[in-house]
Amino acid sequence: MKDRLEQIRQSALKQIEEAGALEKLNDIRVAFLGKKGELTSIMKSMKEIAPEDRPAFGQMVNETRSEIEKKMEEMKTTLAKKAREAQLKAEVIDVTLPAKKSNVGHRHPNTIALEEVERIFVGMGYEVIEGPEVEKDYYNFEALNIPANHPAKDEQDTFYINKEFLLRTQTSGTQVHTMETQKLPIRMIAPGRVYRSDEVDATHSPCFHQIEGLVIDKHITFADLKGTLAEFARELFGEDTKVKFRPHHFPFTEPSAEVDVTCFKCGGKGCRMCKGSGWIEILGCGMVHPKVLKMSGIDPDEYSGFAFGVGLERIALLKYEIDDMRLLYENDTRFLKQF
Ligand code: DAH
Repeated sequence: MKDRLEQIRQSALKQIEEAGALEKLNDIRVAFLGKKGELTSIMKSMKEIAPEDRPAFGQMVNETRSEIEKKMEEMKTTLAKKAREAQLKAEVIDVTLPAKKSNVGHRHPNTIALEEVERIFVGMGYEVIEGPEVEKDYYNFEALNIPANHPAKDEQDTFYINKEFLLRTQTSGTQVHTMETQKLPIRMIAPGRVYRSDEVDATHSPCFHQIEGLVIDKHITFADLKGTLAEFARELFGEDTKVKFRPHHFPFTEPSAEVDVTCFKCGGKGCRMCKGSGWIEILGCGMVHPKVLKMSGIDPDEYSGFAFGVGLERIALLKYEIDDMRLLYENDTRFLKQF
């Protein structure tokens, strides 16, 4: 019996020693210490022993059980530690590995220029307004005093949707929407896309952007227009920029003018940028025609105003010295990232 116990002891300790894995250790526990395990069964065969030897043998069995349990506990700790180490090793993250670069793109020169223009006018108390790109003929032409036989109304220049609707050819229609719906006085700019039936080349695109400006109040004069645009030019192109107003014709303003700024490249001496003249044309403007005011329900005897229209691409091309408009629409990030 004693030999049998010693055998169990050695066998258990050996198996524990060689278990190698936690699951195996559990199997060993069941095999030796479990209800039907070997130690349990040897206790059950106690009756085969002489009664006087039983207490001593019982103690031996208990000691063996304790020893096996202790060994098992130690091995469990060792194996758990090993398993944890193996797991850590397997799941290790190399934080020194370079991260995958996410390509965030770049703000478009048009956007940069527009935000600059908006900043300038918002600083002067203007509101930024949006108008519809699909527009009624009335807003794009008629309400702006553009007669039915005007060349701009030719289908070669304008994308018509039907007799009544078209893709706006200018942002000037937003003037009319604003006059019809907003309370006076008005001080607004209206940036947005416009469409013209043009072939693509270095200076033309069938879709481009304009920024309209409109001020309506009592006692607004041409002096206000001049002062406003002079300040705009200085903020956009630099403190020393001067403006020149050349008489021009637009149906919706009277008088009308085109505005040139002194070349910011040569300061007015004449260079390649300004084609030797020292001046660069940037926008059209004028005093809102009394007929236009009247059509939108504003009394021209009480109110007056000025308006202007700037080409956004023109500003961006000038400001960043880009010589081909097509570059603005290709969205090549290698190009865009330069600005
Ligand atoms: N709409 C004109 C164009 O597309 C630009 C313009 C000129 C707008 C004079 C105005 C203005 O508001 O007063 O050429």
